[in-house]
Amino acid sequence: MEERWKTAAGLDPDAPIGVFDSGIGGLTVAREIIRQIPGERLIYFGDTARLPYGTKTKDTVLRYSRQIIRFLRTQKVKAIVIACNTASACALNEVRRELDIPIIGVIYAGARVAAEATHNGKVGVIATEATIRSGVYAEEICRIRPDVEVIGKPCPLFVPLVEEGLFHDSVTDEIASRYLADLKKKYIDTLVMGCTHYPLIRSTLRRVMGEDVTLVNPAYETALELKGLLQELNLLRPETEDGDGVEKYRFFVSDRAESMTRFAKAILPREVKDTVQINIEEY
Ligand code: DGL
Repeated sequence: MEERWKTAAGLDPDAPIGVFDSGIGGLTVAREIIRQIPGERLIYFGDTARLPYGTKTKDTVLRYSRQIIRFLRTQKVKAIVIACNTASACALNEVRRELDIPIIGVIYAGARVAAEATHNGKVGVIATEATIRSGVYAEEICRIRPDVEVIGKPCPLFVPLVEEGLFHDSVTDEIASRYLADLKKKYIDTLVMGCTHYPLIRSTLRRVMGEDVTLVNPAYETALELKGLLQELNLLRPETEDGDGVEKYRFFVSDRAESMTRFAKAILPREVKDTVQINIEEY
């Protein structure tokens, strides 16, 4: 944990956690946070007007991330989770230096678990073009275990397949077989699902890779990291009745509010109310 966050004494444990992603995919991270720390309030922002981030440059993703963080700060969040692998890869280091509240991304936790899980020292990472190009997963994994060979593979078609709801479909199976063929040839024993959407096609990835390959879900690991961080900072909100009239989970997007509400209702374990559309360019 960063030293300066230890002075988080001024932050209110009752305040929400800001979670953002380029779109709906970060709900897989929100889902894990809700499951693992059910007392927390969340403000979720999905940048549905400017998605995908995975095909954009680092500078653009950094600019978008800064705007979203400015919006989340207007909501008085006590901590921020970048629930997007691409934004974590392109922006976390920079925005972390600029902020005085705790902020984490999804990459560190997933990299740590992958480094611990591999027996043969061969880890595959599947992610967007931008995340693979950044080399951040390989950097983090090798910082923890320099002997590990990390093989990255961009899988750009997985995002639209998931957005189309083709979780269990022969088209998804076929594309997964092609994308993963190189990783299989390298005999990886651990595969990081380095994009928010990929845990939603976990069963396809499992079938193609076989039972012996460990699948790492950074969303799950990130929720655990967040819990530990909030505990250390005395910012963890106990699970309460929430009878104070404040909506526990609030959703904002930059476009297509109804799709966010629909998707959130489908994958989140709790009641989801409406989504509010905002103009993120104003921040
Ligand atoms: N959320 C992005 C990620 O985890 C995937 C979607 C996109 O390209 O914006 O990398």
